[in-house]
Amino acid sequence: MKIILVGACGRMGRNVAEVASEQGIQIAAGIDVVSAPAPFPLYTSISEVRLAADAVIDFSSASGLESTLAWCEARGIPAVLAATGFTEGDEARIARAAEKIAVFKTGNLSIGVNLLQRLAKKAAEILGDGFDCEIIERHHHTKKDAPSGTALMLAKSVNEGFGGGKENVYGRHGMVGERKTSEIGIHAVRGGTIVGEHEVMFAGQDEIVTLSHSARSRKVFASGALKAAAWLSGRAPGLYDMDDLLGDLI
Ligand SMILES: NC(=O)c1ccc[n+]([C@@H]2O[C@H](COP(=O)([O-])OP(=O)(O)OC[C@H]3O[C@@H](n4cnc5c(N)ncnc54)[C@H](O)[C@@H]3O)[C@@H](O)[C@H]2O)c1
Repeated sequence: MKIILVGACGRMGRNVAEVASEQGIQIAAGIDVVSAPAPFPLYTSISEVRLAADAVIDFSSASGLESTLAWCEARGIPAVLAATGFTEGDEARIARAAEKIAVFKTGNLSIGVNLLQRLAKKAAEILGDGFDCEIIERHHHTKKDAPSGTALMLAKSVNEGFGGGKENVYGRHGMVGERKTSEIGIHAVRGGTIVGEHEVMFAGQDEIVTLSHSARSRKVFASGALKAAAWLSGRAPGLYDMDDLLGDLI
């Protein structure tokens, strides 16, 4: 398999390159706006790349989205969009691209987090409105977007589990008044080198249920991205996510 890696010099890009080399997968080219020594040709823009590839993995940022999608659309090459922090406009652009090419997008490429998502949805279904749900995510101090894409995914699943009608409340500050049952609280903690932790807490009358996941290494996401790229290669146009990849596995 040949991969073009966008955001190649970043933390995730370097992890993908390392895991790819361990698995015998070729990185045909890397793209990054900064330069660093790399064992593959490095470009500052994907538009300069003339090589073929089985898939593009983009771990850059939302700012890299348009050029990645335009390049993939022009060549019919599938794209794994692994960055987070997309706006509603970006989501609409991704949906348009998915009419032409196979696009895989997820806020979290780990199997464990996707299991957590399913368990949190089930917990909301079972516990119901007598329980207040708060989501706490913790990441390293250089993470740029907040809350994490994963926290938003978890909130969406919890809302579905509750039967809909909840609204996300991001952090609390000042005289906010009593908590409404319609709220799902989301809190972003930043510090040090924390890779990524997510806790979904259901607080009821005199009891608390907590579900949590802790990523101990970025390799979890890197190998997830490579699995997604292999799975996506040769697929019909469409927007796919971890549920499609994992199927009934979990
Ligand atoms: N989906 C997941 O499972 C998952 C897991 C971890 C991180 N992420 C996301 O992946 C992204 C990258 O994370 P990171 O920790 O590696 O960040 P990082 O800042 O270390 O790396 C990002 C790299 O992309 C480059 N870059 C940024 N914009 C670019 C552009 N327009 N064109 C080309 N290169 C560009 C930067 O120079 C940098 O080298 C973030 O959005 C993060 O939230 C997703």
